[in-house]
Amino acid sequence: MIEPGDIWDLYWETRLAPWDTLGKSAAIRAASKEIRRLAQPAGRPLRLLELGCGEGQILGTLLDAHADLCDRGASVGIDLNRKSLARCQKDYPGVHWEQGDFTAPDLLARLGKFDLILFVNALHEVFSAVFSPELGEVDVPLAKQQVREVLSHTVDCLHADRCLVLFDGLEPTGNQGRKVRIRFLSDQARAEFETFTREYRPFQIKYGEADTSGLVELSQHNFTRYITKSIFLGKRLWETERLESYQYFTEAEFREALIGQGLELTALETLTLNGEKWRSRVEIDPPDAEFPQEHVLIVAYKRPPPP
Ligand SMILES: C[S@@+](CC[C@H](N)C(=O)[O-])C[C@H]1O[C@@H](n2cnc3c(N)ncnc32)[C@H](O)[C@@H]1O
Repeated sequence: MIEPGDIWDLYWETRLAPWDTLGKSAAIRAASKEIRRLAQPAGRPLRLLELGCGEGQILGTLLDAHADLCDRGASVGIDLNRKSLARCQKDYPGVHWEQGDFTAPDLLARLGKFDLILFVNALHEVFSAVFSPELGEVDVPLAKQQVREVLSHTVDCLHADRCLVLFDGLEPTGNQGRKVRIRFLSDQARAEFETFTREYRPFQIKYGEADTSGLVELSQHNFTRYITKSIFLGKRLWETERLESYQYFTEAEFREALIGQGLELTALETLTLNGEKWRSRVEIDPPDAEFPQEHVLIVAYKRPPPP
């Protein structure tokens, strides 16, 4: 017998196949599950909000799939980019798509309360925007504080017992100054690494030649940035990707920031999707050293304060 959960697994499997390498399919599946979980106790159509909605595929796809459980006209997608919003309006009509800066507390405050809020690959852009020309790098303490503030205003927009789904880059734990040695598997990979070190803006990337055979040594911090951006090198997207650090919080920092806002984490999963592409580009030394887990997917519920 086919159980209802299986039907949705099958639905998303077919629907999301083209996006599987982008990670956002994991966020959509998780949000779909929460929508089905939330719908019954709410007893009314759910309001969804996506902050940094881009071209609307995440919110639009969820609202199309769960038309019977969600209030499409009262659901909102916010993005800075007008061109992306025009695409949202064309592809997913009937949703309230709005141009705006979600870091502005007054914008969030006037949107009212929601049942499910999505942040998919958006908060790392908030972190990366806090770039200090004096330092020549992201001002890390200020940038992390900015992310925490945005989370705080966002949680204010959630009804009690409702849910936040966050999908983004993950800073590995452990000593980020530890040295990693890498060997490029082609001349092209080596040339693209040099482009990366010249053009990546959020952090200054220093490296050294470990020997005369082409082995390069750099910190774990910089290696994580290089390897997770390597899939964009030589592509049109590099022009924007070079401005953003995908990593900002470790798992412990995500937990602390969300729990500190009165959220209870009901799921936290780390995942990596591009290991094969990375392995075709570089070998790491020692050979059993690990490539980073690049993404984190978090589901968190706003709990009412204790009486
Ligand atoms: C990598 S895209 C992700 C889009 C979408 N969530 C998805 O996964 O398909 C990040 C989006 O966040 C938007 N964004 C970044 N900072 C923003 C801000 N402060 N206010 C509104 N939108 C922002 C960007 O314009 C961009 O469209």
